Amino acid sequence: MLVIACSNGKEIGKKLAKHLGVKYSELWKEVFPDGELHLCFNADVKGKQVVFVQGFSPSPNESLVELLFAIRTAKELGAKKVTVVAPYFGYMRQDRRFHSGEVKSNTIVSRLIEFAGADSFYTVAGHLHRVNSMTELFKIPAKNFSIHEEMANWVKKKFGTKAIVIGPDIESWRVGKHVAQLVGCKYDTFLKKRVSGSKIKHTAVATIDCKGRDVVIIDDIVSTGGTIIGAAEHLKKMGAKSVSALCVHLMSDAAGDKLRRNGIRFVAASNTVQTKYSVLDASSAIASAMLSGPQ
Ligand code: R5P
Repeated sequence: MLVIACSNGKEIGKKLAKHLGVKYSELWKEVFPDGELHLCFNADVKGKQVVFVQGFSPSPNESLVELLFAIRTAKELGAKKVTVVAPYFGYMRQDRRFHSGEVKSNTIVSRLIEFAGADSFYTVAGHLHRVNSMTELFKIPAKNFSIHEEMANWVKKKFGTKAIVIGPDIESWRVGKHVAQLVGCKYDTFLKKRVSGSKIKHTAVATIDCKGRDVVIIDDIVSTGGTIIGAAEHLKKMGAKSVSALCVHLMSDAAGDKLRRNGIRFVAASNTVQTKYSVLDASSAIASAMLSGPQ
């Protein structure tokens, strides 16, 4: 087996190769003057089981093209099997046509990965809210898994069992509830309405008593930060002593900085997207998922 990191998979790919005890290499990349990608393998893939590690943030469009080119080329050069690990799998939130004529990107992207030649697929905390299982996205063996243990350990370390965990919307209840169970603390959820890409309206609030308590808002993704900031405003009005944010995928440093500027005490995320707030390591969970197989 050979782990090859694409441009958004280097930090986590190196750790994954170590956990699996296999060789590690990086995909060489330059951008031609006209903007096209020029890619080349630094290792011989012939006859090998190749694992490509590629996150979809930053630059989801370029990341996708890079990954598709890498998969196809590995197959052309005689790789025995190609496994894709997408620590953060983008394009999954557009999982239905919310407005008539809109592109539903999730299955287009999964099918492109299959079409390029991938034999199996792994992702962390995939956005599967309106998708019942990975089989709706892929025909190849595919696995979506969580890092709830790592998230619970972070909450315990910072606040012990006295914290209150809040899910900022109905889609986050699964992750929030499970993490709260692992911590052994209280949990509740808010209701949210997204008016546009960045405008968010919270239409109802949790009933739990947050007065004087340290609250941790837990979500799978933080993109603009609007969801967390909206929920935090309610929590402050409800008398919370402090509000922190814990998520799996934080899309950028800027989003984390925005949360901090808006009074969020601690911002913590995993290294599925590499930012200065990446304090949780997902590589060991990825290795365990791979060792137990894709389905
Ligand atoms: C929504 O379904 C997700 O779970 C997140 O709540 C959402 O994507 C966060 O986006 P933003 O940070 O832009 O509010």
